Amino acid sequence: MALVPYDETVLNGLKRFHNSSASYTFANHTIQIKQNWKELGVAAVVWDAAIVLCMYLEAGGINLNGRSVIELGAGTGLVGIVAALLGAEVTVTDREVALEFLNTNVHDNVPEDLLPKVSVKPLTWGKGLEDFSPFDVIVGADIIYLEETFQDLLNTILHLGTENTVILLSCKLRYQRDHHFLDMMKQHFSVVEVLYDQKVDVHIYKAMKICHGKEL
Ligand SMILES: C[S@@+](CC[C@H](N)C(=O)[O-])C[C@H]1O[C@@H](n2cnc3c(N)ncnc32)[C@H](O)[C@@H]1O
Repeated sequence: MALVPYDETVLNGLKRFHNSSASYTFANHTIQIKQNWKELGVAAVVWDAAIVLCMYLEAGGINLNGRSVIELGAGTGLVGIVAALLGAEVTVTDREVALEFLNTNVHDNVPEDLLPKVSVKPLTWGKGLEDFSPFDVIVGADIIYLEETFQDLLNTILHLGTENTVILLSCKLRYQRDHHFLDMMKQHFSVVEVLYDQKVDVHIYKAMKICHGKEL
């Protein structure tokens, strides 16, 4: 009898993180993502939330064509790459430490003719926000997980959006504290669940700024 109970899907998920690359097909393109769990950890593997968000975008969940999009906590950049393939002008961001790796994946996968519409920039939530103007769309996959970053993440989303900005957060809600972030969001945004993928336990929430006083 196994002393440590295990769930095969969890083990397969962990094994997947140790692969040096992962391949996906979105928007009629094969995307080959480099991974490096050993050296860069969470920022250098593709999380289920990113895959589910890409499927949602590819299915036309929202129209991205010609819209300005910023991806927060992009990791390998899969979501930003797919947004670019779907016609968006994309700013892909993460912490400085993850940037070189992110840049490589973006440049390996975005076709040359679309590259002028894609930029990779450092953005640590809550810092240097004055360097960024509002976007049409803000996307983030699996970025609700560190309680100490919640206020900075919220401030970042508040800074990057207007009342017309659509925010899409794809997440696995692992702990009660993750729900707390959604409660923080609800103080400023109307938040609606637009998709739940039961197989991988990923939710996608769409949020828009509450426009106080518009009805006056
Ligand atoms: C679980 S990974 C998700 C990566 C990618 N979005 C995906 O779903 O495959 C969380 C990401 O958030 C980024 N992150 C964590 N804290 C951050 C912070 N304070 N500012 C900016 N990014 C942060 C990490 O570097 C990492 O890339």
